[in-house]
Amino acid sequence: MSLIIKNGHLIEPTQGISEPMDVLIDGDTVRRVGKDLDGDEVMDASGCVVCPGLVDIHVHFREPGYESKETIASGGRAAARGGFTTVVPMANTNPVIDNAGMVEFVNRRARETACIRVRPAASATKGMKGAEITEMAELKDVGAVAVTDDGKDIASSALLRRVLEYARMVGLPYLAHCEDEALAEGGHMNEGYTATHLGIPGIPKAAEEIRIDRNIRIAELTGAHVHIQHVTTKEGMAIVRRAKEKGIRVTCETGPHYWMLTDDAVRGFSTNAKMNPPLREEEDRLAIIEGIKDGTVDCLATDHAPHTRTEKEVEFEYAPFGVVGLETCLAMAVTGLVEPGHISLERMVELLTLGGARICNLEDAGVLREGGPADITIFDPKAEWTVDAGRFLSLSRNSPFDGMTVRGLVKRTLCAGRTVYEG
Ligand code: DOR
Ligand code: ZN
Repeated sequence: MSLIIKNGHLIEPTQGISEPMDVLIDGDTVRRVGKDLDGDEVMDASGCVVCPGLVDIHVHFREPGYESKETIASGGRAAARGGFTTVVPMANTNPVIDNAGMVEFVNRRARETACIRVRPAASATKGMKGAEITEMAELKDVGAVAVTDDGKDIASSALLRRVLEYARMVGLPYLAHCEDEALAEGGHMNEGYTATHLGIPGIPKAAEEIRIDRNIRIAELTGAHVHIQHVTTKEGMAIVRRAKEKGIRVTCETGPHYWMLTDDAVRGFSTNAKMNPPLREEEDRLAIIEGIKDGTVDCLATDHAPHTRTEKEVEFEYAPFGVVGLETCLAMAVTGLVEPGHISLERMVELLTLGGARICNLEDAGVLREGGPADITIFDPKAEWTVDAGRFLSLSRNSPFDGMTVRGLVKRTLCAGRTVYEG
């Protein structure tokens, strides 16, 4: 039996399509894309954008080890609700995803329990301890799509050089969490006026910028592909821009909270505004948007980092870093980037699909074409709704956007032809 998505506005970045088109699905495959098609079952997408399933190359699913925060199954459901059909979970689970058996474990759990596609990253060093390199060739063989010690930077520049030489040899991107841990030590929010006012120890912007710079320099030295995660500062963005102009193999991402919020959000001591790197200042927020506009930013990624209510409901300084983002990302992109006119809807879709897929070489992800997998997101870019973290499909509720009224709502997500979310 075939399924036909009718009356929608198709946006497909790889083919430069942005016009009313029907999509005919047969089983798990897109059969045809065109005008006035017919099929057995009709799905009406009036007023909606139809696009490739969204891709997020930076999520934290907490399995194994911290299943009360999130599991691969619950994270998958949250992703589907956010319109994502492919995600790349980070390796900072317990135990760390640092060997082939662990990658296989994630793949198996994903196959058994997740409604979307899960393409794990593996750690770059054993136990993410920054001392010994992982067996990247083996990790790649069993399906790791990137190496990263995300949550930590690699302190030793000499070791990072070896990591990057190895990653380049096996053809995996290195996803870089940029943080000089000694300089950031003891800080809980951005260092600046607000932190001083609140009496909370700060994390200087330099802690991030020093390492963006260093990590890029070692990318240049080795020729490896370094992807800078969650860029948050004006100078950090400028460093990436200059490196790209020089032709260095570097890409970068930023996340919704960095273009939507500033450290002002910490004023009520809300631990849901605590993440690492921290929310910065208005000039940084504007520079992040500028980077998204001028193409310095290659993809948008959530850094979905679930933590339980008990862990977050403590004094600011005791709360763990991290916020959830999968179920609100599309709305933040529509509300914060498209509606104010910073980028087009087409560019937004590209940044949320192809952008990440290219970085992690996810062949079939981020495209909607005849013969390809039926991974499709249908969203209403005009629909207004109010974020209610209490109703998230994620097991965690630590969203800085709770209660915010936004535009852009996912109506339906299909993965391999199956409806995995319907709103
Ligand atoms: O805020 C964060 N949370 N930043 C990270 O780098 C790690 C993440 C987590 O795993 O909770
Ligand atoms: Zn990180």
